[in-house]
This record gives sequence, structure tokens and C-alpha cells, in this order.
Amino acid sequence: MDCTTTTLSALLLHLLLSLVLPQQSCNPDSNIGLDREALLKFKKGISRDPQNVLTNWNEATHVCDWKGVHCNKSISRVTRLRLEDTFLVGKISQFLANISCLQSLHLSQNYFQGPIPEELGALSKLVVLNLEENKIRSVIPDSFGKLSNLHYINLRGNWLNGRLPKPLFYNCTNLELIDLSENFLTGQIPPFLGNFLLDLHVLLLYNNKFTGSIPPSLSNSTKMEIIDLTSNLLSGALPSDIVIHMPNLTDLHISDNNLSSDDNNSNLTPFFRSISNLTSLTILELAGNDLGGELPFMMGQLPCNLSKILLQDNQIHGVIPPSISNLTNLVDLNLSNNLLSGTIPLELILLPHLQRLWVSNNSLHGEIPSPPGVSTKLGLVDLSCNNLSSTIPISLANLTQLRILDLHKNSLSGHIPSSLGSINLEQLDLSQNQLTGVLPAEVVSLNSMQIFNLSFNLLEEALPMELSSMDKVRVIDLSSNNLSGNIPVILENCKEVEVLNLSHNSLQGPLPSSLGSLPDLQSLDLSHNFLSGNIPDSLQKCTSLKLLNLSFNNFSGQIPEGGIFYSLTYDSIKGNHLCGTLSGIPTCQNRQKTHIFIALIFGSTLLSLALLAILYMVCSHSILIKNQLLKRNHQNSTRTSLEFMKSYQRITYRELLEATKGFDQSKIIGSGRFGHVYKGMLSGDSIVAIKVLQFQSSDFTKTFNRECQILKRIRHRNLIRIITTCSLPDFKALVLPFMANGNLESHLHPQGQHSSFKFLSFVERVNICCDVAEAMAYLHHHAPVQVIHCDLKPSNILLNDDMMALVSDFGIARLAKTTMEKTMASEDTTNTELLCGTIGYMAPDLQKWVKNNYCGQLREVIDPFIMHDLKTHKEDTRSMWETRIVQMLDLGLLCAQEVPSTRPTMIDVVDDLEKVKYCLNNDASSSFSSSNGITNHLENCK
Ligand SMILES: *[C@@H]1O[C@H](CO)[C@@H](O)[C@H](O)[C@H]1NC(C)=O
Ligand SMILES: *[C@@H]1O[C@H](CO)[C@@H](O)[C@H](O)[C@H]1NC(C)=O
Ligand SMILES: *[C@@H]1O[C@H](CO)[C@@H](O)[C@H](O)[C@H]1NC(C)=O
Ligand SMILES: *[C@@H]1O[C@H](CO)[C@@H](O)[C@H](O)[C@H]1NC(C)=O
Ligand SMILES: *[C@@H]1O[C@H](CO)[C@@H](O)[C@H](O)[C@H]1NC(C)=O
Repeated sequence: MDCTTTTLSALLLHLLLSLVLPQQSCNPDSNIGLDREALLKFKKGISRDPQNVLTNWNEATHVCDWKGVHCNKSISRVTRLRLEDTFLVGKISQFLANISCLQSLHLSQNYFQGPIPEELGALSKLVVLNLEENKIRSVIPDSFGKLSNLHYINLRGNWLNGRLPKPLFYNCTNLELIDLSENFLTGQIPPFLGNFLLDLHVLLLYNNKFTGSIPPSLSNSTKMEIIDLTSNLLSGALPSDIVIHMPNLTDLHISDNNLSSDDNNSNLTPFFRSISNLTSLTILELAGNDLGGELPFMMGQLPCNLSKILLQDNQIHGVIPPSISNLTNLVDLNLSNNLLSGTIPLELILLPHLQRLWVSNNSLHGEIPSPPGVSTKLGLVDLSCNNLSSTIPISLANLTQLRILDLHKNSLSGHIPSSLGSINLEQLDLSQNQLTGVLPAEVVSLNSMQIFNLSFNLLEEALPMELSSMDKVRVIDLSSNNLSGNIPVILENCKEVEVLNLSHNSLQGPLPSSLGSLPDLQSLDLSHNFLSGNIPDSLQKCTSLKLLNLSFNNFSGQIPEGGIFYSLTYDSIKGNHLCGTLSGIPTCQNRQKTHIFIALIFGSTLLSLALLAILYMVCSHSILIKNQLLKRNHQNSTRTSLEFMKSYQRITYRELLEATKGFDQSKIIGSGRFGHVYKGMLSGDSIVAIKVLQFQSSDFTKTFNRECQILKRIRHRNLIRIITTCSLPDFKALVLPFMANGNLESHLHPQGQHSSFKFLSFVERVNICCDVAEAMAYLHHHAPVQVIHCDLKPSNILLNDDMMALVSDFGIARLAKTTMEKTMASEDTTNTELLCGTIGYMAPDLQKWVKNNYCGQLREVIDPFIMHDLKTHKEDTRSMWETRIVQMLDLGLLCAQEVPSTRPTMIDVVDDLEKVKYCLNNDASSSFSSSNGITNHLENCK
């Protein structure tokens, strides 16, 4: 799938919009005056219109010229209302029902709340109804059964609940597209669904809570092209008897349900037979259903248009039939997490168009096939967690396009073939095997490498100098081998390295001080070696470093102070001959006293401390949850790929190229670890932010999928929302709303292009805290899936035109299942896969420092801008403000307590912040009683 393939739904929509509708008589008792009146009443129901789209809806302008309103000139009536993606907040007025000639109603991608009015059922001329991506909380009204001209209904991405209205399916016989995905709809899909929907082309019901079986009547919808029922609670048999009647079916997605194969979940043949004549079928997704049975030999007779087969996370056993080699158009094949045995057929690897092959976590044995030198497109091969033995074939290097090779956790032995150095590998994971010999210089010098894991093998001898050529490598894990010799000083050339693990080897000599100059180093584990000498001071200057383990070496001398050493624990340096201030370590003779560090941070950077504390708190609160989650066994599943290919291919690369003038440098508005953010203008004048993700490792693809998957399931006014995405194999981008006011970081520390930003007032800061806290309360307590952000920081908080804060960047969020889902999926461990990110970090003594320093002396800890702001106000306002500032600090401190269980929940935090906000906005010294028991500590401290 690439983004030039327009999905059928987009196509249909386009078709329907350009449709010249047959002239039908509308209600003779109504006229354009009534249409106008109805629209004005609709406008009254809009509480916010930040883009002023409705400003010309007034007396002076003719109703047919109002923005978003389209009239049919010949009958002089309003026929279309189109206000999509305009940030409108409000409710959908029942008076729209009075526009009796309305044929097309488009209110998608706004913030409409509340129910869908029952009255809309009176719009008997309605052909297109699109309320996609709003915040509508209601059932789908039964009255929709009266919309007998309806061709297209899209209510995707709301909070709809309840059952499907039956009349919709026996009365709206013209329906061609139904998209009710991403809601909370329950109950069975009505058994007669297909009896009357003879023109249905597209049925999208994914991400709901539908139960029961797939109704057999669907076989009457013989024009069907796309079915997506993924992520529901459907049970019963695979729909063999249904799809066999759909000759034009192209996409069948039924992953993540509880379907079973024939003969008591033991026979897949009838299903595969039923699709063997569907010559248009290109995508088949049945992952995560616990399907039993064997892959039949007749798989070779499946339609040869198939480009994607996803069968991972099932209970499929038996061998991989070599007849699969007949499916010459396969691009993606995922058979991971099944019970497959036997060997890997060479034919599989030689499929001419195959780009990604996953067969991880099965019981495959034998040798890795040796591919001859023919042209293949394989870029990803994941054979990990099997019982593959013997050596890694030298001829694997014939797969010239290979970028990701994962062979970890097998029984491979022998040497690492140096031939692998001839392909541009980006990720190589050979860990947990029995590989022997040296690290081949050809492989360790690959400058395309990003993730390099050879841990838990029997590799020996010294680290080759050539390691330093991997200038893009982010992870080097060579731990638990028999490596000896020194750590090469030249390792400092691996400028991008974030994780370096050389632990459990026999390395000796000094620790090169050059390692401290690695700008992105976050984790350095050198434990259990024979390293000696002093710990170089340079490590304390390495500000990115968060984890350091030097235990069980022969280090001696004084432990440096500051930086990472400030938070170091005994465990990470024990087993050496060191001295210092750490408890459990003998003190040195001449130790330095001052902790310049704190002064450095707070002296020079102008932080709004309360804000910082509250922001940090959210992440530290999550550590508790993280620890609980880590205890569970979460296998790395490969299913992520299937989630993001759905539903978001609506913008093409070419459009993005045009929007950004060819990704011109001048359009860059931000940069991060994963790439640049561009400002772009899409056709139709809408300004967007385009986040282009640069690297193409699978790790990276996961980040992308993660962000899409999470963002699309959660909606809140303080969370940034995806407009659309573009995903090509080697290009991925998110299109997000453009926020003219940039991020919070640039307001707290205005510089460069943002130096014109004026500093934030105290009231603005409180409002921002409130917004952020509300977003977090939603993520922690109300979202359909529990999400822990884990990288909440000012640069991830964007400000819109009204200075409302929107939290962004869920790329490293941690997703936890809701308790309910947990119990439902309790036996399915792969389902509980967790998304991991880095944990929020706060210097452990920060809290203590603030506590000790702020008593009565706000000036010591508070951003001078705020103090300045204070001085401009009258005495009584000032003292009220001071009280509020102290309350904010108290709250921040409460939230930053060491023991997670003593921290308030985000719901309580929102409560308190709302009160502070209320007091400030009402500008009186209103009394304040905190749900967290915060009192004014000013009197208590001296
Ligand atoms: C079915 O549609 C007709 C108009 O076409 C309408 O009169 C009738 O009430 C509808 N039935 C239901 C149950 O909505
Ligand atoms: C197809 O629809 C007809 C009524 O139009 C119904 O009698 C028949 O049972 C349906 N087919 C299936 C397989 O349900
Ligand atoms: C399948 O598609 C073809 C070509 O678009 C069309 O002619 C045919 O009628 C369709 N078949 C069904 C059952 O809709
Ligand atoms: C597929 O088509 C062939 C020829 O048209 C027919 O003989 C066979 O029965 C069909 N198979 C299925 C499962 O419908
Ligand atoms: C491969 O496909 C052809 C038709 O395309 C079919 O005749 C043959 O039986 C298939 N081979 C296998 C092994 O299924």
C-alpha cells in the first residue's frame, strides 16, 4: 500500500460529491427563507468559531453566499452544507432538519458534541451524511431509517454507543458506503444487514465493540469491495460463505476478533478455498484471532493479486507450504506468533516482490535458506525466536536490499559472515545465539547501521577499531560475550549513539574520557568487566546521560560530582575501589563541597518552576504504572504494521511535496530526533504542520505506527489531532494542525525566530497548566485506552491561536489496556503488548531543593518574568497572586513526591488547578479549599 493508492472510500466520496443529483421536489411548504432561519439557529448552537468561518452568515449576505452553504440555483434552495475541519465547537442543531432539500451534510472534523438530533431523520433528500471525527456522544437515531436516499454515511471517530439502528439496514437500500468505525458501538451486527443493501461497496466497522457473528446475509451485498471489521469482539466462523459471493472484494480486514476456522477451529482449507476465485483480492488480514489449523497446500491457488497476507498472532500449526511461492505479487507476509514448524522454504525468500517477511516466534527449525544471487526486494527479514540452527549463510548477502535482519533467539552457531558487510544493513539483531569468533570488521564498519545487537553470544577478542565507522548507529549492544582488550577511544566517532552496552565481557584498561563527549548518549553500561583507572570527569558533562552502570570493574579514585553522578545509586558503582559522597562508599580526603549544578540550572534558566514540577509530575506518576506493567510478560509483536495501513492514506506524497515547496529548508518550523516539521499549505488554503519522519528502521516505523494508532483512538480538545498521514515504505509523514503560537518551550525561553514572543503572564501559565492537566487526566482516566505520555515537556506542548495548550508527540507514549480489556484479553498475552518509551526524568533532589528554598522567598525559585508581572499589579491583586503561586508550587511538590502512591491523581490536580484558575479570573481573594489538602504554607515556614 502506498499513499498514491486512493482508498475506495475517498474515491466514492469524491464521486458522490460531484454527483449531479436528480431534481426532486422538496417540501412545498418550505422555502429558502426557512432554510436561512434554520441555518441561523444552527449557528446559535455553535459556541466557538475560532477561525471565524461563520462571520458572513449575517443579514448583509445572501444565504447562498454564506461560507459552506451551497444552493441549487434552479430551485433556489439550500442543498449542501459543508463545514469540515473548521474547529467549530457546539452542538448539531435539530433545526437543520428544516432544510428540506438538503442533500449533503458535511460537518466532519470539528468539535460537535452532544447527541445527533432525532429530527435529522426528516432530511429525506439527504444523500451524503458525514459527521466523521467529532465528539458526538449518543446512539445512532432510529430515525435515520427514514433517510432512504442516503448513499454515504460516515460517523467514524465519535463517541457513538449503543446498537446499530435496524431501520438503517432495511430502509436505506441505496447505501454504498457505511463507515461507523472507531466508536463504542455494541451488540450484534443486525442479522439481516445484507438482505437489502445490494449496492454496498464499503463496510467499515473497525474499532468498535460488536459481538456475535458476521451475518450470513452479507452475502447478498455482492458488490462489496472493502470490508474492515478489525478490532471488535466478533466470534463464530470465518466468513467463507459470505466472501465467496463477492467477486470484486479487494480488502478483507478481520484482525483482532475471536473468529475460528472450520471443523472446531482446526481447518483453514474451506476459507482459503472460498477466496480462491476472488481475483481482485489484494489484502487479507486475519491476525490476532487464535485461528487454528494448518496453512493448506492450496494456498498456491489463492488469487495472485494478493499483496499482503497477515496471519500473525494465531494458533496456526504445520509447515509453511512452499506453494506460497505461487503468490508472486506478495509484498508483506506475516506469520509471526503462531505454532508453525518445519523449515523455512527457500521459495519464500525468493518471491520477487516480497519486501517484508515476518515468521518470528514459531517453532521453525533447520538452516536459514541460502538465497542464490537473484534480484529480490526483501528489505526486512524477521526469523527471530525460532529454533533455527547451523551457521548464518554467507549468501544471505545476496539479498542486496536487506535493511533489517532479525535472527535473535535461535540456535545459530559459527562465525558472523563478513559478507553481511556488503549490504546496507540498518538493523542487525543476532543476539541470544551461540555465535563464535570475532566481530568482522566489514560488518562493524557499516555506516548505514542504526541498531546493532550481538549480545548474548560467544564472541571473542578485541573490539575492532572499525566500530567507529558506524556514525549513524544509535544502539550498540555487545553485552554478555567474551570480548577482551580496551575500549577504543575512537568510539567517540559514533556520534549518534544513545545506548552503549558492553557489560559482562572481559574488557580492560581505562574508560576513554571521549565517551563523555557523545552528544546523545543516554545509557552506558560497562558493568562486569575489568576496566580500571579513574572515572573520567567528562561523563558528568554528558547531559543526555540518564543511566550509567560501572559496577564490578576495577575503577579507583574519586567519583566525579554533578551531572549523572548527582543521581547515581550505590548499585551502579559498587564492586570497584572508588571513594566519594555516595552512601555505602568511603569518603575521599579532599572532596569538593559545592553543588554548582543546581545553581547552574536555576541561576541561568528562567523556569516557571511550578509549571515544570507539574509537568514532570505527570511522568513520574506514571512510573508506578510502568513498573506494574513491566512485570507482565510482553512479547514483542509485529502486528503494529497492520494498524497503520488502515484508514489514513488520504494524502499523497506529491501533495505534501507541493505543500512544502519540495520540503524546502525555509519551511522547517521544528526539528526533533526523528526528523523535521514543515509548515505547509494544502490545496484549499489550509495551513498544516507536516511532521516528516526521517529514519526507516523498524523501530522507527513502530514509533510512527504508535503515534498514529494512539492518536486516532483518543480525542480531547487539549490533545493534538492527526489530520491525515502519508505512509510510503520509505517515507512517513503526519499531517497535524498548524499552531501559529509554536510550543511552550519557545515561550518560556524565547530565542531565534521566536524571540518576538512576549513572555507568558501568570494567568496564561495557569491556564496552560490547566489545559495540560486536563489532557493528562483524560489520558490517564477517561481515554478509551489508558495512555501514559512519558515525554511530557514544554517543547511537546503546542499553543493555538487562543493560547490554548495542546499536548503532542505521543511517539514514546506508553499504552496500557483498560482494565476491562485486560480481563477480556487475559489469555492473549500478545494482545497486551505495551508500547515503551523513555521515562520522564526529574533530578531526584529537585523537590527537596525547592522545598528548602522557596519558603517565603518566592523570588528564589520563581521565573523573574512572573515576579516582574506581579509588580505591575495593585497591592491586593499582588498578594492574591502570591497565594496562588504558592498553591501552584505546593501542588507541584505534592505531585513530585517520591512515592507514587502519595501523589494526587490527575483528576484531583485538574480540580485544584481549575480552582486556582477560577480565583485568578475572578480576581478576588476567593477562598480556596483544595481536594489535595493544600493549605497556604507561607505562615508555616520561616
Ligand atoms: C422507511 O422509509 C420510508 C420512506 O421511504 C418511511 O416512510 C418509513 O417510516 C421508514 N421506516 C422506518 C422504520 O424508518
Ligand atoms: C439475501 O436476501 C434475501 C432477501 O432479499 C434473503 O431471503 C436471503 O436469506 C438472503 N441471503 C442470505 C444468505 O441471508
Ligand atoms: C465487479 O466489477 C466489474 C467491473 O467494475 C463490474 O462490471 C461488475 O458488475 C462488478 N460485479 C459485481 C457483482 O458488482
Ligand atoms: C472458482 O471458479 C471455477 C471456474 O469458474 C469454478 O469451477 C470453481 O467451482 C470456483 N470455486 C469456488 C470455490 O467457487
Ligand atoms: C500455481 O498457480 C497456477 C495458476 O496460476 C496453478 O495452476 C498451480 O496449480 C499453482 N501451483 C500450486 C503449487 O498451487
